[in-house]
Amino acid sequence: MSFVFCSLCCAQQVTPQLMMAVGTAVMGSLQFGYNTGVINAPQNIIERFYNETWSSRFSEPIPPGTLTALWSLSVAIFSVGGMIGSFSISLFVNRFGRKNSMLMANVLVFIAATFMGLSQLAGSFEMLIIGRFIIGVYSGLSTGFVPMYIEEISPTSIRGALGTLHQLGVVVGILMAQIFGIEAIMGNATLWPLLLGFTILPAILQCALLPLCPESPRYLLMNCNEEIKACNVLKKLRGTDNVGEDLQEMRNENQQMMREKKVTIIELFRSTIYRQPIFVAIMLQLSQQLSGINAVFYYSTRIFERAGVAQPVYATIGTGVVNTAFTVVSLFVVERVGRKPLHLTGLMGMAISAVLLTVAMSLLVSICMAIFSFVAFFEIGPGPIPWFIVAELFSQGPRPAAIAVAGFCNWSANFLVGMCFQYVEQLCGPYVFIIFTVLLLGFFTFTYFKVPETKGRTFDEIAAGFRMSAGHGADKYSAPEEFNTLRGDDPDL
Ligand SMILES: *[C@@H]1O[C@H](CO)[C@@H](O)[C@H](O)[C@H]1NC(C)=O
Repeated sequence: MSFVFCSLCCAQQVTPQLMMAVGTAVMGSLQFGYNTGVINAPQNIIERFYNETWSSRFSEPIPPGTLTALWSLSVAIFSVGGMIGSFSISLFVNRFGRKNSMLMANVLVFIAATFMGLSQLAGSFEMLIIGRFIIGVYSGLSTGFVPMYIEEISPTSIRGALGTLHQLGVVVGILMAQIFGIEAIMGNATLWPLLLGFTILPAILQCALLPLCPESPRYLLMNCNEEIKACNVLKKLRGTDNVGEDLQEMRNENQQMMREKKVTIIELFRSTIYRQPIFVAIMLQLSQQLSGINAVFYYSTRIFERAGVAQPVYATIGTGVVNTAFTVVSLFVVERVGRKPLHLTGLMGMAISAVLLTVAMSLLVSICMAIFSFVAFFEIGPGPIPWFIVAELFSQGPRPAAIAVAGFCNWSANFLVGMCFQYVEQLCGPYVFIIFTVLLLGFFTFTYFKVPETKGRTFDEIAAGFRMSAGHGADKYSAPEEFNTLRGDDPDL
């Protein structure tokens, strides 16, 4: 509602130039989603290719254990790439600019798509695995580039609304991959290389459109000191010559940033001020990934198939539709409701859904509803909330380091689930989701007792809350000193 309302009353602010720049950037989000979801539907078909390739090389069928290992690796190595990509974001954005970074990253897509698309022709599953790794690096970069670019080109009043387009791009990308994975489209023995290689099309489109998009005015002004260029870009983006206010706002933001010393990752863990918030940030990221959501996005077709669902690929598309619908719902809710109740609701809802799922799997009744509600509750809490809270727990100084640590933990847990899920499933059978239930209840308890509400509170208030909950250890520090260190003024830190 707020989104529609806002885009009506700010209609003049959404200029064609702005829409085009945002639309072009969001293709990067789409790619991340697409490559998260693309290996789900065609698992059987590509496994058959692995088997045949193995047979023709070694003159014997592939041992089932080796097949599980190779497939899990093909799925999960995406997250290893993602981790490397997310760590490299700052290497690019400040040196080459936001726009050129996005443009350059597409080289990775071309290489990855070629490897994945030609793997069948070359009779090499290694090529597919390498391609998955490279597209993972691209996705890790993309999750940093896109929100940053959108935020820096958007007018303040609609920044939040436009920023959510990144999240929407990701879930729409997942849905697209699931639909293209239908056997009649590209999810079959002859066309699956096209399904994986399809990722090259958005990349070509983005490469064609990016040169027409402006560089981030913030980058031009702050990193390059090109005030006139920044001014011209702003005029085009805003559709008015009256951009003095925007420029001033950028300078103010920058000054505020300079006032705070940057905190390194090591300092984040050594300082008593940051130790608790970073622990909370890490646990929240783990709660997102160890909830088991990617077990669904990577393996739902296999799960549905095992449970006897007649058209497993269509059930998988159902999860994508529910996912997209609830992402839209959460976009409206997240901005106005407290983070903590939403996260708790989501975790508990997922835990209950996981129990239903277990019952459904062991009784072989339809499990679609259980998985749909699992995904729906994910998008209400554990999907969006952890990133929100991490950004809100830390002020400008420690934020980049905190986000890097959070990203590392997120991708690591993502890898763990992608790599281990099939093994655990082989061990536990229908009871595999009981493990996620236990984890979800654990994260629920942790969130209930340890996670502060961040909505509408200042960093000082949040820090004071941490101090109180830390109890006895807190009185070692006087309040003023602690506020100073939180703001990053303390040279000892
Ligand atoms: C590999 O293919 C052979 C021959 O088609 C088949 O008998 C065997 O079950 C397959 N192995 C696996 C692990 O799927």
